[in-house]
Amino acid sequence: MPAASLSATPSRNPSQHFDVRPLDAALGAEVLGLDLSRPLNDADLARIHRAYLDHGLLILRDQRITPEQQIDFSRHFGTLQIHVLKQFLLANHPEVFIISNIVENGQPIGLGDAGKFWHSDLSYVELPSLGAMLLAQELPPEGGDTLFASQQLAYETLPAELRQRIDGKRAVHSYTARYADEVFKGVRRPTLTQAQLAAVKPVVHPVVRTHPETGRKGLFVNENFTTHILDLPEDESRQVLAELYAHSIKPEFIYRHQWQPNDMLFWDNRALIHLATGCPSHLRRRMHRTTIQGDVPV
Ligand code: SIN
Repeated sequence: MPAASLSATPSRNPSQHFDVRPLDAALGAEVLGLDLSRPLNDADLARIHRAYLDHGLLILRDQRITPEQQIDFSRHFGTLQIHVLKQFLLANHPEVFIISNIVENGQPIGLGDAGKFWHSDLSYVELPSLGAMLLAQELPPEGGDTLFASQQLAYETLPAELRQRIDGKRAVHSYTARYADEVFKGVRRPTLTQAQLAAVKPVVHPVVRTHPETGRKGLFVNENFTTHILDLPEDESRQVLAELYAHSIKPEFIYRHQWQPNDMLFWDNRALIHLATGCPSHLRRRMHRTTIQGDVPV
């Protein structure tokens, strides 16, 4: 998304004073002093956008904001995507998807195992997510971390032989790739209706994508949704994917986020994959996610 396409906000609002502090890690920056409950102007948005592209993940600290404010801020970066699991959309705000292990009156209030495997959000649709924002609502006293891995660093450090094997290759992504595993393991996952299944037909994307804004190349396969690489025998596809997955999560590409109250993370799904580590089931965790539509990966 070119900076010029960020939806305009009146520039007459005074600029906010905030700092962007890069993390001592492969990716990510902390943003301190920004208040998303107050108006932003074009210069603020341009700074946030630049930092987002430079670091792949922004940790926006201390955001005491409403669902409407999260939605409004997310919309500056593009159209919002509505998750196929309609039962976990926030009432009156379908743009907000609830990720939670909390069960109320016998019913889960959100998707409990979201992010259990490394993934890029919505890689299983034609227009995968540009990025996502995840706002902490209720955090457990222990656990519940989220890990991010740079797929651009992963690609840049790929052994030449493996890089050659995936050159020009395309892979199939499917929302249901792991669904059966999870059901068999007794994880609380809702059965998909015919309409939901029809909305998530498998799609094909390049194994390596070029970031539409920075031009950097990165791996674009993930263990959650990628089923196989096209034009390779099944065994070879499985073996290549296994090698890519093992390489893509080397410790030097990873940042581990330990959540603080009112953190909101904004990450680039075109450059990173992520994983939720989960927390003990007797502890409560609730997060609100907005997901921004990206473009066709090339
Ligand atoms: C996600 O995969 O979007 C959820 C990550 C998390 O809950 O930490």
